[in-house]
Amino acid sequence: MNFENEIEKRRTFAIISHPDAGKTTLTEKLLLYSGAIQIAGAVKSNKIKKTAASDFLEIEKQRGISVSTSVLSFEYSDKMINLLDTPGHKDFAEDTYRTLTAVDSVILVIDSVKGVEEQTEKLMGVCRMRNTPVIIFINKMDREGKEPVDLLDEIEQKLSIRVRPMTYPLGKGSDFKGVYNIYKNTFAFYQSNKVKVEENIMLFRGLDDPELDKVFFGLAEKLRYNVELIDGIYEQFNQENYIKGEVAPVFFGSALNNFGVKELLDTFVEIAPPPLERETTAGVVKPHDDTMSGFIFKIHANLDPKHRDRIAFLRICSGRFERNKFYYHVRLEREMKFANPASFMAQAKTLVDAAYPGDVIGLYDSGTFKIGDTLTEGGKFMFKGVPRFSPEIFRLVRNLDPFKSKQLEKGIQYLTDEGLAQLFTQNLGNKKIIGVVGELQFDVLKYRLLHEFGASVDFSPINAYKAFWVKFKSKDDIEDLLRLRSHFLYLDKNNNLVFLADSLYSLHMAQEKNPKAKFDSSIEHNDQTLLLDENI
Ligand code: G4P
Repeated sequence: MNFENEIEKRRTFAIISHPDAGKTTLTEKLLLYSGAIQIAGAVKSNKIKKTAASDFLEIEKQRGISVSTSVLSFEYSDKMINLLDTPGHKDFAEDTYRTLTAVDSVILVIDSVKGVEEQTEKLMGVCRMRNTPVIIFINKMDREGKEPVDLLDEIEQKLSIRVRPMTYPLGKGSDFKGVYNIYKNTFAFYQSNKVKVEENIMLFRGLDDPELDKVFFGLAEKLRYNVELIDGIYEQFNQENYIKGEVAPVFFGSALNNFGVKELLDTFVEIAPPPLERETTAGVVKPHDDTMSGFIFKIHANLDPKHRDRIAFLRICSGRFERNKFYYHVRLEREMKFANPASFMAQAKTLVDAAYPGDVIGLYDSGTFKIGDTLTEGGKFMFKGVPRFSPEIFRLVRNLDPFKSKQLEKGIQYLTDEGLAQLFTQNLGNKKIIGVVGELQFDVLKYRLLHEFGASVDFSPINAYKAFWVKFKSKDDIEDLLRLRSHFLYLDKNNNLVFLADSLYSLHMAQEKNPKAKFDSSIEHNDQTLLLDENI
């Protein structure tokens, strides 16, 4: 197969949802349809159990296993599909945000009972930053959920995206009869079907078909009314607008019951975009460009303390990646080659000789990669768009063993390179604040610092609300900050200036007093604010 076809064939995406909406169940059903797994339950067993929040060892064991499910590649309908897994636990949400930078589209799962939830909004916010195309799957239609029209309204309002229902349900909960495919004029009859993969589908000649009345009796009128209503309210589906991230096609179904999943997958392969072009510091890179380029969006640690190697996940953006060929590590300005790049097929890891744009491969790494690093065939540019967000919880690092300060320093550098947490320092690095998205990450840090580096730490709470990266043109722009608010000022790992506000009020005050400075709660991994010539 030629290079062009290899690219055209690829569909790289992620499934995202608020925990419990059904992401794992849907992932598993997609794999069942593709034939990548044979039995239900295979994916589920790898999931981080949400109840085990305090049981760190268990979580780590599970995370260890989940290396192989970080990317699930399978073929379906002549397409090569790369499904990038995202952590189920909300405390590892930052990992999910980064994974979203490596996909070309997403499927968003919404629970029909709960509607749009907190994490759904955050994840959609990240998708919107890059105009990622989104398909929405409204799950758990077998349960007594919200009215479909209300759900569609809620999605439009809370997620700020236009929707276009592709199917429409007839009934819900115990009265759920199935879904009508508005574009194919088919009706899929609902049946509880947890293991089999066929769907019972009937073709009609449009909504006027008298067969509808024969099959549904009085309910046919309701279906016609609803579908006409939908057609009146929502614009016809337009693939271009979907690819631009302006409109999200919506499907209804029940992942647990295998219902509506095939329809979703069939439409996905039909409309989802092949690898898209990407922005770099030197302009746009197109997948068809002949030289290889890609970026690291995730680093997964090997949790066996005897082997401190990691797997860095590389998203290939252009050209053809080859095993044992030299590539240029832009940040370190050095050539590297990889003898054992790995690809992932369901749960098996295999050696890859060649990979193409859209593919994600795992590179064994002993500490040379950071999130956001770029590999090229000599080009000196970096990929843009791998964001870092303000953490939500901040704690002061307390070294419990002063004889192990060096180990602690090294451990913190290493683990923050992985993206496990963010580091903010003051007093020439002596005061260290760690910022994370969820409590659980502190447990992970403490455990790994001790087991992998022999450093023993504790974390004490501090009064911090959010981190804001300060962008300024000259020191005069931040004169007030430096003079009166320096106790709030820190440096991040790249020596960017950060204002660690203790409240929204203090941010407003800082903004008011330093009107020329810009305070941002996110920054790109490779971005640099103006550096200060003095220490903080
Ligand atoms: P997540 O990855 O998004 O966190 O969700 P997951 O797939 O684990 O699903 C969360 C719960 O919702 C699971 O139940 C799952 O069985 C259930 N579920 C998923 N899809 C559907 C659906 O279409 N209908 C109904 N009624 N339930 C659904 P659980 O009790 O938490 O886990 P388990 O005991 O089934 O493993």
